[in-house]
Amino acid sequence: MDNYLGILTGGGDCPGLNAVIRAVVRRAQDDDIPVLGVYSGWQGLIDGNVAPLTKHSVAGIQYRGGTILGTSRVNPLTSDDTLKKVQDNWRRFGLGRLIVVGGNGTLSCAMRMWRDHGYPIVGVPKTIDNDIPGTDYTFGFDTAVSIATDAIDRLHTTAEALHRVMVVEVMGRHSGWIAAYAGLAGAADLILVPEIPFRMSEICDMLTKRKQMGRPFSIVVVAEDAKPHPEEDFLSADERARVFHENRLGGIGHLVAAQIEERTQLEARVSVLGYIQRGGAPTAADRVLATRLGVYAVEMVMREEFGSMAAVHGTHMASVPLIEIADKYRPLDEEIYKTATTFFG
Ligand code: F6P
Repeated sequence: MDNYLGILTGGGDCPGLNAVIRAVVRRAQDDDIPVLGVYSGWQGLIDGNVAPLTKHSVAGIQYRGGTILGTSRVNPLTSDDTLKKVQDNWRRFGLGRLIVVGGNGTLSCAMRMWRDHGYPIVGVPKTIDNDIPGTDYTFGFDTAVSIATDAIDRLHTTAEALHRVMVVEVMGRHSGWIAAYAGLAGAADLILVPEIPFRMSEICDMLTKRKQMGRPFSIVVVAEDAKPHPEEDFLSADERARVFHENRLGGIGHLVAAQIEERTQLEARVSVLGYIQRGGAPTAADRVLATRLGVYAVEMVMREEFGSMAAVHGTHMASVPLIEIADKYRPLDEEIYKTATTFFG
């Protein structure tokens, strides 16, 4: 028997994963397709850690953050041994097809498992970073932006009361989507994104001018991978290595704030939002998007559109070849950043 439809969630947790799982199980059930949940991402296929999912086991999970299946950043392609274990478990548990819910890393791996090893896989994009090509939005993004916007709103209180520059560091990996959206929504005075290297001299001039014009407080949103322009690089080699570590970004906000204090008469404080941005309940918009993607992914499986990813294009669902998006990032849209600059200063 190889009729089971497997589902796994890989990479970082992201609000909306449970809504996808529920949608997949419910849609599959309509066509009598039994679903097997794979625990801890690809690790579950390596270890044989799987269990059937039913309408009852996924009831009431769509508003919960995280993933009931757990997740990991494990890649089964790292050795022949892990690949062999996946193959054995695939047969042992009667898997016939697999839905892989993940970000850039997980979906790139899914593409290779399909292209190079023949696994019938359909992908579902997820990430708070909104940086997966081929889809207009990823679920998790709206929730992260809402959380970051709420934080910016709250930071305005201290900024205004104490005439401070509040630096807010947000996630987004190599893209500035969260920074730009939350900065726009929260009326930030400046937004620094990875796509556009920043110049400390311009930032400090702007903050000083604001003070001279009777606005002695400012909100500066900094994406975790925002970098100084090479002509005005103020980072030591050590700082650079620590802050822009390939697998763990974070810390640029503190360095920017230190520069502001050093170069202006302004007092600066830092808030690093970190994992708060991807925790807790998904917004209604993310629940809806995740649910639509889950339903559509099952329909793609039924149409045997393997090696593809469910996506949203405008107001419609679409199917995109995984090969077109694997190993690629989607940078922040230039037009959105340009709009945000209208409100700088
Ligand atoms: O991709 C989502 C994300 O939260 C990024 O914004 C961040 O850089 C990264 O994951 C953190 O990853 P980890 O959970 O491995 O620390």
